[in-house]
Amino acid sequence: MCSCEEPRWGWGHCAPSPILLLSLLLAAPFGLLGEETRQVTLEVIPDSMGLPQNLLHIRAVGTNSTLHYVWSSLGPPAVLLVATNTPHSILSVNWSRLLSPEPDGALMVLPNDSIQFSSAIVFTRLFEFDSTNMSDVAAKPPGKPYPPYSLAEFSWNNITDSLDPATLSATFRGHPNHDPTRAFANGSLAFRVQAFSRSGRPAQPPRLLHTMDTCQLEVALVGASPRGNRSLFGLELDQLLWGSLPSGFVQWRPVAFSQKQGGRESALPCQASPLHPTLAYLLPQSPIVRAFFGSQNNFCAFNLTFGASTGPGYWDQHYLSWSMLLGVGIPPVDALSPLVLGIMAVALGAPGFMLLAGGLFLLLGPKRYSEYQPIN
Ligand SMILES: *[C@@H]1O[C@H](CO)[C@@H](O)[C@H](O)[C@H]1NC(C)=O
Ligand SMILES: *[C@@H]1O[C@H](CO)[C@@H](O)[C@H](O)[C@H]1NC(C)=O
Ligand SMILES: *[C@@H]1O[C@H](CO)[C@@H](O)[C@H](O)[C@H]1NC(C)=O
Ligand SMILES: *[C@@H]1O[C@H](CO)[C@@H](O)[C@H](O)[C@H]1NC(C)=O
Ligand SMILES: *[C@@H]1O[C@H](CO)[C@@H](O)[C@H](O)[C@H]1NC(C)=O
Ligand SMILES: *[C@@H]1O[C@H](CO)[C@@H](O)[C@H](O)[C@H]1NC(C)=O
Ligand SMILES: *[C@@H]1O[C@H](CO)[C@@H](O)[C@H](O)[C@H]1NC(C)=O
Repeated sequence: MCSCEEPRWGWGHCAPSPILLLSLLLAAPFGLLGEETRQVTLEVIPDSMGLPQNLLHIRAVGTNSTLHYVWSSLGPPAVLLVATNTPHSILSVNWSRLLSPEPDGALMVLPNDSIQFSSAIVFTRLFEFDSTNMSDVAAKPPGKPYPPYSLAEFSWNNITDSLDPATLSATFRGHPNHDPTRAFANGSLAFRVQAFSRSGRPAQPPRLLHTMDTCQLEVALVGASPRGNRSLFGLELDQLLWGSLPSGFVQWRPVAFSQKQGGRESALPCQASPLHPTLAYLLPQSPIVRAFFGSQNNFCAFNLTFGASTGPGYWDQHYLSWSMLLGVGIPPVDALSPLVLGIMAVALGAPGFMLLAGGLFLLLGPKRYSEYQPIN
């Protein structure tokens, strides 16, 4: 069973929390750490039955290890993360079983005994809140909720058309199947996925430092009509906690952007709720998670909300983007100046703790957001 505790916040890279140190020590023996570069390939695995289902396999091969990321919009958008201790592991897909009501066993990473770590993240719902009259920026929820959009009930583009081998990226672009108010007539929710063959830092904010053991996700809501004049948006994430250390992680800066050219003027605070244990059946099921893990129910869910009722917002340009990294081993710890926004990380595969690396999140309420500085 999952025992999600309240997140414990640490105080940055000068004095890492005991939890962070513990996880670093425990993660260190994991053989993935020696890799300097990875050969990354992106492959769309076609559905043999010709149905428009997206299954993207990112394979990142090092000398002695392979990372497999399997992204899919079958059901709610979801990703499986599997690390093996061999450069030869493969993904095996049985489409007829995957599309059946009992998809257990339809996705396998072989050889099975090479698997060192596996976890999954499911993106279940997009929230919208009316923040008119909300003066308390820390209020939860940050306004009157509109009915949420269930991401399991979206239809998605053919991902093959967005595959870019040069940038190792692909984009899932979707809109609700049922859209009576035509809110998404000119809009979409996009999940842009990018893998890396070596370490680096993108030019675009939030400029998260990545390694070849990570994969980046940018979520962008573009052009959808908000249901109010002061709509704030949120996203619900559902992570499967599985196995023991070594662990994986998701990591992000607590900032989102209301313009494509993200910068100080368009930076919005991004707040995370505590992790809550959840019985998987209360949330939309992910066929790919079921296919790989079987009927597991050790899920934790948490919410992210973007923006505040004052300052820049989605209302400016009908644009919102937020980025995170997903990876295995130690989250890249940025040696950043204390004025720069912190980094939040959630451990995957190690139930019961959430950690903060190199950050000052608690100091940065929305009022201080003007202190956001691009990192040089
Ligand atoms: C890969 O494994 C070999 C043999 O076990 C070892 O000598 C080498 O250091 C490993 N390389 C990395 C990058 O871990
Ligand atoms: C997706 O696009 C590719 C390339 O354009 C095409 O070959 C494939 O048949 C399409 N898949 C579906 C399900 O339409
Ligand atoms: C795929 O799954 C179906 C249904 O479970 C099964 O009948 C079939 O043998 C499987 N195919 C392969 C190649 O394993
Ligand atoms: C905001 O407050 C005003 C004045 O109190 C009220 O008339 C209005 O209905 C409120 N709007 C919402 C969305 O609650
Ligand atoms: C969508 O865009 C078209 C062309 O710009 C515009 O005429 C139409 O009103 C828009 N529809 C909605 C629902 O925003
Ligand atoms: C949005 O703002 C306009 C202009 O200020 C106002 O007329 C309208 O009633 C507002 N709509 C809502 C849903 O609050
Ligand atoms: C996320 O927010 C929604 C709307 O406020 C709420 O119904 C849901 O329980 C929250 N989920 C979690 C895991 O906090």
